[in-house]
Amino acid sequence: MKYGRAVKISGTGMYVPPRVVTNDELAKLMDTSDEWIQQRSGIKERRYVDDDTSPTDLAEKACLAAMEKAGVTGADIDLLVVATLSPEHFFPGNSAFLQERLGMGTAPAMDVRCQCTGFLYALNVGELFVSSGQYERVLVVGVEIHSRGVEFATRGRDVAVLFGDGAGAVLLEPATEENQGFLSMRLHAQGKHADKLWVDAPGMAHAPTMITNDMLEEGMQFPKMDGRFVFKNAVTRMPEVIREGLAESNVSIDDVDFFLFHQANMRINEFVGSQLKVPPEKTYNNIQKYGNSSAASIPICLAECVDSGKIKRGDLVAMTGFGSGFTWGTALVRF
Ligand code: COA
Repeated sequence: MKYGRAVKISGTGMYVPPRVVTNDELAKLMDTSDEWIQQRSGIKERRYVDDDTSPTDLAEKACLAAMEKAGVTGADIDLLVVATLSPEHFFPGNSAFLQERLGMGTAPAMDVRCQCTGFLYALNVGELFVSSGQYERVLVVGVEIHSRGVEFATRGRDVAVLFGDGAGAVLLEPATEENQGFLSMRLHAQGKHADKLWVDAPGMAHAPTMITNDMLEEGMQFPKMDGRFVFKNAVTRMPEVIREGLAESNVSIDDVDFFLFHQANMRINEFVGSQLKVPPEKTYNNIQKYGNSSAASIPICLAECVDSGKIKRGDLVAMTGFGSGFTWGTALVRF
């Protein structure tokens, strides 16, 4: 990195709720089919929370797993950064509730709202706090509960079938090995496409009040997506930003040991992989079993790959995402 001290990922953790929801189950609620969903997205099933589970519950489990691996407790953490588009309440942000749950005393906590690229934005925030020397340990977590936000009806089927619930976390600390750390972090946004994938209401853009019965009737509280437009932008921006990160750090595609792509659609990831000529064994997808868990998807992939030994200490890992905003980015890390 061009500035500060090197930063390592000292612990990874993930959690998904136990309830498996198959495509056939969704087909009972809307006009869709297992065949359509698998063919268009690669998704076979996803996980949904039960009624007693909140975003904080999911995030806490992922955080505790990452903290255990790094050998720290809540009292040791200097800053919590939560990436989410699933607010526990309208305000304060999810980080307030999680900070309390983790026993972080009065240590600072903030939310980052960058949707499916949220984890990468939050990672960059955390990394900068450690590299600058302001903090020693920053916990970064992505968490989503989509199952309470999508519309389980034919009107909302294009979005509803794609998303699932989950959480993934990493702990950041100063690097301890030579060459360890972040080689590059590239982030982008393009707000002119904000309404191509968004939830319009409730929102303070709406006068005289943030949501009305008419708006609810119209379904403005549900996500709306121009699927083809999102697809086209994702398959362009993801390879572009990976190449940008590689160029900045002076490494080649072949130097990268492992690629983790945001899990939005298997076809997007296959397309990105083939454009960059990445061998399939250097990538990992779990969208088949979890669907798209937005800010949680990349850290869940990372935690699973670390746990299964696919990613080892010393590996050069590229993590890349694209999502609503539009936002996109990549992180290149020597693990
Ligand atoms: N089940 C069955 N049919 C569905 C459906 C569903 N769940 N959702 C949409 N359809 C229908 C559409 O209404 C359309 O019908 P029509 O031709 O009669 O109008 C038809 O299927 C084809 O829709 P289309 O949007 O052209 O399909 P697609 O090949 O683009 O695939 C997506 C749809 C959503 C899977 C795809 O566009 C996509 O993955 N986009 C990116 C989404 C994404 O990644 N979002 C998150 C970014 S973080």
